[in-house]
Amino acid sequence: MKKIEIATAAILFNDISELDFEDKMLMDKAIEARANAYAPYSKFSVGAALLLENGEIVDGNNQESAAYPSGMCAERVAIWKASATFPNIGILKLAIAAKSATNLVDKPVGPCGACRQTLSEYEFKQKKPFEILFMGEVGEVIKVPSLKSLLPFSFDNSYL
Ligand code: THU
Repeated sequence: MKKIEIATAAILFNDISELDFEDKMLMDKAIEARANAYAPYSKFSVGAALLLENGEIVDGNNQESAAYPSGMCAERVAIWKASATFPNIGILKLAIAAKSATNLVDKPVGPCGACRQTLSEYEFKQKKPFEILFMGEVGEVIKVPSLKSLLPFSFDNSYL
């Protein structure tokens, strides 16, 4: 028997102004995309923006449905749009920004569990990590170097 330590590598920024030029630009795209979220039920809007290896930026936002489970998160809208449009282009980084119409979101909002699993599929596919940055409406931004930091011991197609 041996003990295994799982470390989550993350960088915490005090706010968006501390990001470098490229990360700030991508987070601004996520914030822009957030404005087009369709979230009449939760009033919680999320924007996501992916930077691809070919320089393209693909964005997305959450899309809700009166039949609640039929809605979709911003991260999956964005990554499926990227895969559908540029199927074999690698992903370099993903920025996520959330905002509520009912309260000030001042903590970084990480992707939900289902989004982590979906995002990890594409990281596994490209055999290269991509960075993930996430924030709320204001305040701290968290940056992790890989989906592995958010989803240790993940399930992937190597088990199939
Ligand atoms: N949501 C996202 O878009 N991404 C997440 O990672 C968390 C939740 C959306 C889904 C739903 O439209 C709203 O936020 C409230 O859960």
